[in-house]
Amino acid sequence: MRIGLLTSGGDCPGLNAVIRSAVLHGIKSYGDEFVGFKSGWKGMIEADYTELTRQDVRGIAREGGTILGTSRTHPYNHPQGGPEKIAKQLKRHDVDAVIAVGGEGTLAGAKRLAEDGIPVVGVPKTIDNDLRATDYTFGFDTAISIATDAMDRLRTTGESHHRCMVSEVMGRNVGWIALHSGMAAGAHAILIPEQEVSINQLCEWVEQVHSRGRSPLVVVAEGFIPENSEEALAGKGQEADGRPRLGGIGEFITTQIEERTGIETRNTTLGHIQRGGNPTGYDRVLATRFGIKALDLVHERAWGHMAALRGTEIITVDLEEALEGLKEVPAERYEEAKILFGR
Ligand code: F6P
Repeated sequence: MRIGLLTSGGDCPGLNAVIRSAVLHGIKSYGDEFVGFKSGWKGMIEADYTELTRQDVRGIAREGGTILGTSRTHPYNHPQGGPEKIAKQLKRHDVDAVIAVGGEGTLAGAKRLAEDGIPVVGVPKTIDNDLRATDYTFGFDTAISIATDAMDRLRTTGESHHRCMVSEVMGRNVGWIALHSGMAAGAHAILIPEQEVSINQLCEWVEQVHSRGRSPLVVVAEGFIPENSEEALAGKGQEADGRPRLGGIGEFITTQIEERTGIETRNTTLGHIQRGGNPTGYDRVLATRFGIKALDLVHERAWGHMAALRGTEIITVDLEEALEGLKEVPAERYEEAKILFGR
């Protein structure tokens, strides 16, 4: 078969490992040929692609980002998009199937295309770990390890100045990155979108820690909703797919803590550092296994399905199931972390 690969949506460490394993498995096990569409769905729609040989994927599993580039182009919103035009384009370039690697938005596009007759399978990716149908997505472990390392550093400077340190992390509308990196770094308070916490409660935790001579570390997810608000802070406009760009809660919390407690407080927004650099070993393995599975799905003609992790097994999941809503942090996971907050 001649198979097209694309990476779409925000980049994420591990994308290259998926590309490598899918290409190597296809060439070695099935005698497949590959093309890589550039910049996500855009490359597929505009037939902007490159042939992918064994040499092209050599040694790329350890590299962050994506060798194919990515974008937030939607396959139905582009002037040359939509199933009829895409089907013609794929036929013209002899592409028999497409593997789309992406998050919620990309997989929703893949599902719609599959329903409209395009031979496409999915691979889930996101540092946010917010997809329900898979226990973990690659990129998450790397983001946790980067954020944890950054927080360890914040703690040494914080302790030296007896300051409260706030760290704003990504995660969109779920708190997985905040919960895991906060726990790993021994944070004294963690604020996530799924749980309401008042500023009074937060300041109480901060004061308790400060009064026993420690430098409080507060980790806040970008999607945390402050009290008396309906939504997360999103004053940075919209992304290409129309979703609001979250951010700014770290600064807000910092000002509140300083004003109410008088404790000198600093915010650090970790931002895209969390998505950059080489994937961890865990993410390389997960991404490699997903790439192998995706290739098998193509040969099974399981259009509209994706690879997923359940426990330690890689399984097949219908994209319908994968898109049934966000995987939020369960209350009991937050209660467990909360035992160690404050005093
Ligand atoms: O979904 C991954 C993510 O990194 C989110 O955590 C964050 O809100 C968003 O993407 C940032 O997107 P962009 O790279 O477009 O600024």
